[in-house]
Amino acid sequence: MATPPREPEPPLWEQANPTGERLQKLLAQRGYGSRRSCEELITAGRVRVNGVVATLGDRVDPLVDVVEVDGRLAPVRPDSVYYLLNKPVGVVSTARDTHGRPTVVDLVPAEPRVHPVGRLDLDTEGLIILTNDGELTNRLTHPSFGVEKEYLVTVTPAPVSPSSLRRLREGVELDDGVTAPARVSQPEPGMLRVTIHEGRNRQVRRMCAAVGHEVTRLVRVRIGPLSDRRLEPGAWRLLDSSEVRALIDAMPSDVTSPDVPKRGARAARTSRPTGRN
Ligand code: URA
Repeated sequence: MATPPREPEPPLWEQANPTGERLQKLLAQRGYGSRRSCEELITAGRVRVNGVVATLGDRVDPLVDVVEVDGRLAPVRPDSVYYLLNKPVGVVSTARDTHGRPTVVDLVPAEPRVHPVGRLDLDTEGLIILTNDGELTNRLTHPSFGVEKEYLVTVTPAPVSPSSLRRLREGVELDDGVTAPARVSQPEPGMLRVTIHEGRNRQVRRMCAAVGHEVTRLVRVRIGPLSDRRLEPGAWRLLDSSEVRALIDAMPSDVTSPDVPKRGARAARTSRPTGRN
């Protein structure tokens, strides 16, 4: 059996004064498989650090360096937490409420301090992410970064006619423009399953109103690849690194490249993200 190629020794200065984390160790910690398979990713030229193809023996600072595999950002900073919360009705999805109402932040551990990623209306239930990872938040809430969100929507009057379903799918005229194509089905009369990737203010409610139906219950059941039917209202759980990675992978690839935060920051001033998602 052929002996695997030996990893080159780090230079003496580095052995005496190592800085940062071995790249293959960091990749293994972030869910890319064993250290051996991470070494193979590196030698195959599939890993970039700060935009430059990495070589075996590279060290990285996990908090500073931008690591990509196959052009996608390697997720999960070791100091970050990501909660998936099932927001109940009546809980505000901002970090603080001027009216003293309970907020989503009150429902998760106080330390480390986290913030909600986007918003759900006071009267909307369902999944919302909370994190202290500002970069992920910026990306997920930017209007053009559209990760799919799926809602179960109860409407009145029921049922919704086939022509209204078609209008919802193709796009309806709202006061802030026509909505993008959506996936809409009616599993039972008056109950819609709606998947959108825009994040406009009260979008699902306004879409339904545009075709003559009032929403009486709105539940977000999926954010990109994340869903959890067992999470009770008010309950939360931590996302693991593979879930965070799946979330990043669900974003369009140009969103996950290292120059995006700069472009996002510039665009955010002109296109006014709504903070909904
Ligand atoms: N659409 C809405 O109308 N409200 C929400 O909270 C989320 C999506």
